[in-house]
Amino acid sequence: MRNFYLLPTLVFAARVAAFPAYASLAGLSEQELDSIIPTLKTREPPPPPGPLEDSSIKLVNDEAHPWEALRPGDIRGPCPGLNTLASHGYLPRNGVATPAQIVTAAMEGFNFANGAAIFAAYGALLVDGNPITDLVSIGGKTPLTGPDTPPPAIVGGLNTHGTFEGDASLTRGDAFFGNNHDFNETLFEQLADFSNQFGGGKYNLTVAGEFKFKRIQDSIATNPEFSLVNHRYITVYGETTLPVNLLVDGRRSDGQLGLDDMREFFQFSRMPDGFFRANGPKSNEGIDIVIQAHPVRPGRNLGKVNSYTFDPTSADFSTLCSRYENFVNQTVKGLYPNPTGQLRKALNRNLDYLFQGVDSALGCTQVFPYGRD
Ligand code: HEM
Ligand SMILES: *[C@@H]1O[C@H](CO)[C@@H](O)[C@H](O)[C@H]1NC(C)=O
Ligand SMILES: *[C@@H]1O[C@H](CO)[C@@H](O)[C@H](O)[C@H]1NC(C)=O
Ligand SMILES: *[C@@H]1O[C@H](CO)[C@@H](O)[C@H](O)[C@H]1NC(C)=O
Repeated sequence: MRNFYLLPTLVFAARVAAFPAYASLAGLSEQELDSIIPTLKTREPPPPPGPLEDSSIKLVNDEAHPWEALRPGDIRGPCPGLNTLASHGYLPRNGVATPAQIVTAAMEGFNFANGAAIFAAYGALLVDGNPITDLVSIGGKTPLTGPDTPPPAIVGGLNTHGTFEGDASLTRGDAFFGNNHDFNETLFEQLADFSNQFGGGKYNLTVAGEFKFKRIQDSIATNPEFSLVNHRYITVYGETTLPVNLLVDGRRSDGQLGLDDMREFFQFSRMPDGFFRANGPKSNEGIDIVIQAHPVRPGRNLGKVNSYTFDPTSADFSTLCSRYENFVNQTVKGLYPNPTGQLRKALNRNLDYLFQGVDSALGCTQVFPYGRD
């Protein structure tokens, strides 16, 4: 092994020159931002797409959107929904997209509700993407630029732990164990056992409530760094409802997802043959059933297993505006503490768009961590 740390200046210059347009800027130092941003092509983000005009059911695994196997370099990640949209060409097949493309694809391909899609897609761009180029990768840590590229890796994309991606997923392991993004067969088999036990062989909201509780208990008992607060506290439950609401064929809409179909989406990023999208816009309907099966309060392990401690500062389901506020004030601001110039402008634009995805029924007030323009 060569010792790359002997060449910091050269190495730094090489990283900047090769900085991919979709690599995340989140968490970079001011020095890195100042060198990298001038090398990037700026793209003004268009406003988020509005709801579908026609949200009726239709065949979405159609001739215009055939499933294709991955090509070298194509990126997939922890979200079976986005992986599937990319593998059917609703998103660019390489797995790199703008938030507007993600919103359109999620609505068109799955009937994901407009507001939820906006919040997720602009949230992803802000914490895992590049606000200057308007691109985010739906997975991978940004591939390093060559055999001589040193650690630390430039990270980015939806695989990044602790920004959007989090612990106690259904079919992906906790980041602490080394792989938070690939389909895990062992976990899927546990999910199948629970579906047999509680769902008559199918995945439904009852199974979701039981299995998510098991995943949380397992993480408390084995992952010293287990964390379940704010945005992740909400999404850990939210993501259990999406298979029920969006991955069941829209002609059936009975909330019972067959395990073969579930495996197609989760493992192979593939819609079943002849798949029809959901019957009207949907997102997290039924989430209360999942939580109420076994309520767990937000919290974390304190550096050792079985030390789960309630965090009273975390958002929960009774304080959904704090989920939005903490995401902006803590997560986004933590990653971009002091942006200036065009970066600040791009962040503010995307924060405006993010707020358009906050359910207006909640009556939240927009927060402005970087002032108003
Ligand atoms: C619109 C933008 C979307 C974004 C930015 C997004 C992002 C993510 C991310 C970051 C995760 C990982 C969370 C974790 O650590 O478990 C995730 C999980 C998940 N997403 Fe998405 N998602 C989107 C849309 C969708 C759609 C449309 C569906 C379904 C059709 C979907 C279904 C799921 C499911 C089921 C999981 C949990 C996977 C598991 O626990 O094994 N998502 N998503
Ligand atoms: C899958 O998850 C199991 C159970 O947590 C774990 O023991 C195993 O190492 C994981 N497999 C891979 C390939 O990450
Ligand atoms: C899940 O399936 C089981 C077995 O068929 C059934 O008893 C239960 O009511 C279902 N739950 C939901 C929410 O559909
Ligand atoms: C978020 O930050 C803004 C601006 O710094 C501040 O006015 C607001 O009170 C903060 N909100 C929360 C919930 O921290």
